[in-house]
Amino acid sequence: MRITLITGSAHRDGTSALMAGEFARGAGDAGHEVYRFDAGRAKVHPCTGCGHCGYGENPCVFQDYMERLNAHMLEADLIVIVSPVYYWSLSAQTKAVIDRWQPTVFSLQGGKRAVLMTTQASGEEWVVEPLRSWYGNLLRFMRWEDAGRINALGCATREQIETSDYPKLAYELGRSL
Ligand SMILES: Cc1cc2nc3c(=O)[nH]c(=O)nc-3n(C[C@H](O)[C@H](O)[C@H](O)COP(=O)(O)O)c2cc1C
Repeated sequence: MRITLITGSAHRDGTSALMAGEFARGAGDAGHEVYRFDAGRAKVHPCTGCGHCGYGENPCVFQDYMERLNAHMLEADLIVIVSPVYYWSLSAQTKAVIDRWQPTVFSLQGGKRAVLMTTQASGEEWVVEPLRSWYGNLLRFMRWEDAGRINALGCATREQIETSDYPKLAYELGRSL
């Protein structure tokens, strides 16, 4: 299976990076091919809604790392989104990537599965509810099938997540696909 994994934190060794790494390790052990795109370190211009792409008629006016990512996404069987929770939502880095799906969005619809993994400081479930709802909308609009979701609660630091079960769950999810 071809997997495109998108991370959205500037922290190279942060909590979401650990979840992404463990998921990729599990998927690799199961024989899957993983392409990882770290939005926190790639130059991705935010979509300006200029309309030039016409949802696929023309290429995006911004030529940056998204060209490479979109090519991988089109070929992927599974899309994995890994983001820290920033104010009950995705990080800006993650969201910038998603907005830039615009030129390929209709070609991406159908025939794929998806995974969402998030990390957050708070131990409260309500903090991640907006993202669960967002993910439901994503699956519905893209006609993708859910392949799993892990919301790591109470994980503000690497130390906290390393002493939790979440990295193991991420590995097992990747391995189980
Ligand atoms: C700008 C910003 C906003 C945040 N908003 C929330 C929030 O709304 N709820 C929460 O529980 N944690 C919040 N956090 C904490 C992060 O989600 C948490 O530290 C996470 O583990 C960081 O992931 P990373 O190490 O992969 O960057 C926020 C952190 C930052 C920097």
